[in-house]
Amino acid sequence: MSGAFAVEHDDGVVIVTFDLPGEPVNKLSQAIIAEFDAVFSAIERDITLDKTGAVVIISGKPDSFIVGADIDEFLSYKTAAQAQEASAQGKSRLDVLEKSHVHVVAAIHGACMGGGLELALACQYRIVTDHPKTVLALPETQLGLIPGLGGTQRLPRFVGLPNALDMILSAKHIRARKAVQMGLAEEVVHPSILKAVAIRRARELAMGSMNRRAPRLGIGARLLGNNPLGRTIVLSRARATIAQKGRGNYPALPAAIEAVVAGYAPRGQGFATESRLFGEMAMTRVSRQLIDVFFATNALKKDTGVEGGGPAPMAIPRMAVLGAGFMGAGIAAVSAQSGIAVRLKDVSREQVGHGLAAARDALRERFTKRHVTRQQYEDQLSLVAGTTSYEGFHGVPLVIEAVFEDLEVKQKVLREVEPLLRENAIYATNTSTIPIAEIARAAARPERVIGMHFFSPAHRMPLLEIVVTPQTAPWVITTAVAFGRSIGKTPVVVHDNPGFFVNRILAPYLNEAGRLFDEGVAIEDIDGAMLDWGFPVGPITLLDEVGLDIAAKSGAIFLKAFGARLEPSSVMERVLGSGRLGRKNRHGFYAYDSKGKRQGVDPSVYDLRERRGGAANVSKGEIQERLALAMVNEAMRVLDEGVVRQPRDGDVAAIFGIGFPPFRGGPYRFVDATGAESLVRRLEAIGRTHAGRFEPAGGLVRLAGSGGKVYT
Ligand code: NAI
Repeated sequence: MSGAFAVEHDDGVVIVTFDLPGEPVNKLSQAIIAEFDAVFSAIERDITLDKTGAVVIISGKPDSFIVGADIDEFLSYKTAAQAQEASAQGKSRLDVLEKSHVHVVAAIHGACMGGGLELALACQYRIVTDHPKTVLALPETQLGLIPGLGGTQRLPRFVGLPNALDMILSAKHIRARKAVQMGLAEEVVHPSILKAVAIRRARELAMGSMNRRAPRLGIGARLLGNNPLGRTIVLSRARATIAQKGRGNYPALPAAIEAVVAGYAPRGQGFATESRLFGEMAMTRVSRQLIDVFFATNALKKDTGVEGGGPAPMAIPRMAVLGAGFMGAGIAAVSAQSGIAVRLKDVSREQVGHGLAAARDALRERFTKRHVTRQQYEDQLSLVAGTTSYEGFHGVPLVIEAVFEDLEVKQKVLREVEPLLRENAIYATNTSTIPIAEIARAAARPERVIGMHFFSPAHRMPLLEIVVTPQTAPWVITTAVAFGRSIGKTPVVVHDNPGFFVNRILAPYLNEAGRLFDEGVAIEDIDGAMLDWGFPVGPITLLDEVGLDIAAKSGAIFLKAFGARLEPSSVMERVLGSGRLGRKNRHGFYAYDSKGKRQGVDPSVYDLRERRGGAANVSKGEIQERLALAMVNEAMRVLDEGVVRQPRDGDVAAIFGIGFPPFRGGPYRFVDATGAESLVRRLEAIGRTHAGRFEPAGGLVRLAGSGGKVYT
């Protein structure tokens, strides 16, 4: 027995159980890899003596194998050379495993990620369990790194070049059955027999009654990976994909390709190249930012939403959703997915029918993708019951209202429902712009009213803004946060104000995009500039997606609340007036075909601009600056006003809610990376030509004066 590894024997097979003390999951650090090396070397020595030649590696954690490297350790590297050395050392230890005369079987149940998968690939046989928690991935590029323990070299041998590149560049999760199909694992079994089967296979390998299997690549993978011409095709496709998706902002993507390519060069070079590039990537600012985002997200997972922890949350085994429209149906689906029974209410049977169908489609998605079994899907579906009455509402501890975005309607519904609820029931509203306190004015128990702002589509988008008023009770907040987390969302607590956090910082950004359009800038140039800056979709595309009617409604609210600074561009009114609602009526800034698939820009929309004629001469840099700084400056105001509890929350919300470029770390990390003083100067310069909208936020000016940072 050693610290993290327990060793036991089963009739000639040595079982090594990895169970990192004091941690919920197994992670690989240099120390742990060295410890494993020592344990394994001792086994190898013994085995030469008594001739047993079989080892099983298994995890002692309930639902994970090895989740990857210890990320804290990445941050401890001070130079690229240090990181390179760590990678090379770890790799030489896995080499020992791979080349050993002892036959090693990896028994994989739960997450097998990054270094964990690299270790498994160095074993001689891999068994995975048929369980939703069992996923295999090399997610390093998501942290701005590349696999550093031989992953870029070994993976292509198992799954072929196209699949390997796909896994490394997209960080995608591979489930058990797919892993076997691809050649990533040899066998899939039920979790209850994993250990027994692994022991049997190890013994068979050692006795020679089963051969170490050479990876079985499909003919396509062989053709494409094993000859230079095929490789050229695959590589140029991969390069085109990363150019389009990463837009040059993620250096780890081309580095990963380079490392994979080096694996096809004479022996030895690939592993060395991988270590060198791993070292270089570990020092990039992009990687530091992405790791910070990772830590911020993890820290948020432990946050109750209330300073000091607050009261224990109430259990939510069942709930009601008011309004079976687009959002209501999605909220019902995502809740049922987590085993919560939902009553979905609307005004007519027809509306309820639409809502149930939409909820079914959302739930079906995970079944179609094989994330759940048919039985699980049907069980989830049976949890959603449609209704046009308030029958049974007395029994629910949580109601989420998702009716029309209209204060009067929302207040009327609240007045109607509240008296029917039990006294400690929570009433949440999914409004996207109306201040929660205004809705709560209609409540007899306003301390139980809270905002739960889901993003669309609700069953896919990870962020949930929990909006609290000064009256909201702490136990209501902790319950809302715990509920959000239980349905798989990342809840961020924000204080009540028009637009909350995400829509508030989005407003000046979208307004500015409208102005650029009005000034004569081509739509492709506006969207393209922001894609290059790192957003997943351009602002004009986003307007079409959100719906121009919704954008106009919130625009009016922002204008009323904040005046000229957040005044929508006048073109929005003209575009909306021409009958364009965006994607929903297949008529927006872009054209759509009859199936709703987006075509190019609709040229007739240019007739609605104020400025007719030739294109405006606005550079890409200027477009990016006006849009991004409008958003970042507003984020600084919001921080000053205490809308977010801390910068971390705002950064995560901006990344998860709007797709703020993760490699920039979120708006507040962006301020720190760029420097407040330089931002103030830029804002002042832009403000000279665009008066009234770019006055630097007070917090930014203060930081510029003191030379301080948002994150202290
Ligand atoms: P929707 O128009 O698709 O659905 C609203 C539903 O509420 C309709 O089915 C309607 O029949 C029903 N309804 C109206 N009065 C009702 C009542 N008294 N009782 C029960 N049901 C009633 O609208 P959508 O898009 O689902 O929006 C709902 C809410 O979610 C709005 O407050 C909106 O601002 C918010 N929201 C919308 C997002 C979006 O992207 N669509 C994103 C985030 C929030």
